[in-house]
Amino acid sequence: MTAYPSITAQLDDPDAAREEGRRKMEWARQHMPILEALREEFEANQPFAGQRIAMAMHVEAKTANLVELLADGGAEVAITGCNPLSTHDDVSAALDAHDSIASYAVRGVDDDEYYEAIEAVIDVDPTVTVDDGMDLVAAVHEDYPELIDTILGGAEETTTGVHRLRAMDADGALEYPVFAVNDTPMKRLFDNVHGTGESSLASIAMTTNLSWAGKNVVVAGYGYCGKGVAKKASGQNANVVVTEVEPRRALEAHMEGYDVMPMGDAAEIGDVFVTTTGNRDVVVDEHFERMKDGVLLANAGHFDIEIDLDALDDKAVDRYEARDGVEAYEMADGRRLNVLAEGRLVNLAAPIALGHPVEVMDQSFGIQAVVVRELVENADDYGPGVHDVPDELDKEVAEIKLAAEGVDFDSLTDTQEEYMGSWQHGT
Ligand code: NAI
Repeated sequence: MTAYPSITAQLDDPDAAREEGRRKMEWARQHMPILEALREEFEANQPFAGQRIAMAMHVEAKTANLVELLADGGAEVAITGCNPLSTHDDVSAALDAHDSIASYAVRGVDDDEYYEAIEAVIDVDPTVTVDDGMDLVAAVHEDYPELIDTILGGAEETTTGVHRLRAMDADGALEYPVFAVNDTPMKRLFDNVHGTGESSLASIAMTTNLSWAGKNVVVAGYGYCGKGVAKKASGQNANVVVTEVEPRRALEAHMEGYDVMPMGDAAEIGDVFVTTTGNRDVVVDEHFERMKDGVLLANAGHFDIEIDLDALDDKAVDRYEARDGVEAYEMADGRRLNVLAEGRLVNLAAPIALGHPVEVMDQSFGIQAVVVRELVENADDYGPGVHDVPDELDKEVAEIKLAAEGVDFDSLTDTQEEYMGSWQHGT
């Protein structure tokens, strides 16, 4: 199908890269007790023996530990990136050195290379797909439908991927079961909120060397990610302004004490703009017109279409790299609007970005791992379409994490359980 080379063939010094990648993975692994507990189970039981798993995810140290866990549980795994800028080449090289893993992820690929790498991954003839953004599911359905019969199912990591899958399902076009990993409490309430909040702010601060205190930070979208960004920015003494299109979320932000206003107004007062909508064209031409000199524009949503960079480029009389990861667009009136990480996920695609904190990804990837196990063990229970992750699996991962943290908690008595399940007890 394809002759696209794995990362090892694309690096000048793969040995050095592997060593550094392995070091990063080891550090993350020390802080991933959920994956460690599952590793013990998977190494002993080999639940994935004979399975071929195709993955398109952000290839960095935490993801790598999930990939290796699946491989050590018996699977043959092929992986590539789900964003051209989020791959850590050294980690990718470390994965590629594993006997049961081929990694095609390379940082900085162009569009053609990105999709060639997706094809190379599909070449494994997958029985399971694991996506972050749905690119694999789309490629299989559009270009390799003959593979669908042997695919047990898939798992989707992020909000945008789940949106796309639900749209595909509504059109009757999704031909195998896919679990909406994003939508579980153990993922969304922690990864999207705390993970995106902490890592986006850290990446912006490190990339610019600027302070949050006293800044007007405009957060576009008050969903799970937006809540995290707003909360953490507020915790760093910024004044948070929220823009929304959904009335209840706008009200929620208002009741949290944030200023809520249209982007047209926010554009005039913002110092930093962070988009988290999963939508397109959120910051556009008319907003650039009104912005102050020196503003920072960053995106934390999945695709690089939330800030209209083409319009910004058209307006600019000059454009230059102001810092590593910061592109200044100079307007005719002298104002400079600074775009971080080319408008791609700032917490993953900025040059120094590390992605979410390790502990958070341990939870998200714990869900991914048990969902793949569920697909392999009980595929017949799930028809084509998007499926919620069974609640017991989510709870299983929460319990592993609580045990690892040494947190004990109560359980229902028999009487309480009976009471909660009954409609007969009234006043
Ligand atoms: P969500 O659906 O909970 O929140 C999105 C919010 O944006 C909604 O409240 C929606 O009403 C609002 N919105 C939509 N269009 C808007 C517009 N034009 N102006 C203002 N608000 C608008 O989704 P969630 O979970 O917060 O995810 C958001 C995006 O972030 C998705 O693309 C998701 O894939 C991505 N994501 C990024 C992560 C990262 O590491 N940076 C981690 C997890 C998710």
